[in-house]
Amino acid sequence: MSTSLQEDFNYANTIFNNNFSCSSHIYGNTNEELDDIFNSINISNKSVLAVMSSGDYLIMSHLFGAKSVECFDINPLTYRYFFLRKWLIQNGVLEYGKCGYERLIEIVNSVSNFSSEYERESNTFWKEIIERFSEFSWDNNKLITADGYTFCSCFYDKKREEIEKLVPSLNPVFYNASLSEESGLGTDKKYDYVFISNILDWSNNRSPRRLEIIKRNLLNILNSDGRVVCTHFPSMYGGRNNTPVIIKLERQVFDNDFDFQMFDDKGLVEGNIAYMYTRKNNF
Ligand SMILES: C[S@@+](CC[C@H](N)C(=O)[O-])C[C@H]1O[C@@H](n2cnc3c(N)ncnc32)[C@H](O)[C@@H]1O
Repeated sequence: MSTSLQEDFNYANTIFNNNFSCSSHIYGNTNEELDDIFNSINISNKSVLAVMSSGDYLIMSHLFGAKSVECFDINPLTYRYFFLRKWLIQNGVLEYGKCGYERLIEIVNSVSNFSSEYERESNTFWKEIIERFSEFSWDNNKLITADGYTFCSCFYDKKREEIEKLVPSLNPVFYNASLSEESGLGTDKKYDYVFISNILDWSNNRSPRRLEIIKRNLLNILNSDGRVVCTHFPSMYGGRNNTPVIIKLERQVFDNDFDFQMFDDKGLVEGNIAYMYTRKNNF
């Protein structure tokens, strides 16, 4: 389920050497108003599979009472990043973008307790990688982008104690896999909720063929009334005027098997939208 330390160093080197597109960077913090999205649903005592990304979906799912939370991501380094985030939170830094370079180095070098061999390796990984950052690029480089991404900071500040108690105990199951590949996510479990963020906006995932593959992969891991929570960034598709067409094309693939519900977008910035698909009981 997770890649080796050497594989991750190679992956990081490839990213540093510009061989990968911007879709390979790690989000230091979410760029979505997750508190608005999670307040629009009820995941208490539900099983969740969430995109790992910055780790915020994982944290929010636990804060909102999920029974179990597992994660997936096409970028294996997001799992290494979860542990960096854990150490920051254990030292009072809830958001990467607010850490500061000196403090980042200090914290990573101060960690001595590891819950697993993978976490210990991740400390070796970040000690080396962070040295390649500088005080000018630590929060905005090819590997990690965080500047200005503090979309649910006010929510986090309110939940600081809960987060500082919760995160050190987390050791999430992680699937390094692509939602848009025929091979699926590598889990045969069934979940009540799957959070895919705006993966559909990325790398041609909105082609009818890719949408079919993604829908099939989702149906394979959803309970009979399972739900998929999605976000969409109109700014990636020429603006809000194109949104109705974008969503219409997507629903041409999904509507056979899912009911669609748009979330109220009052709080969402830049016209971002969030919506949910609920599996139809076509049995
Ligand atoms: C879609 S991005 C956007 C970040 C998001 N807005 C947030 O606030 O966390 C989230 C994550 O999706 C991952 N991702 C992109 N395409 C994917 C795919 N086909 N399968 C699995 N993960 C994918 C990226 O590696 C990234 O970590």
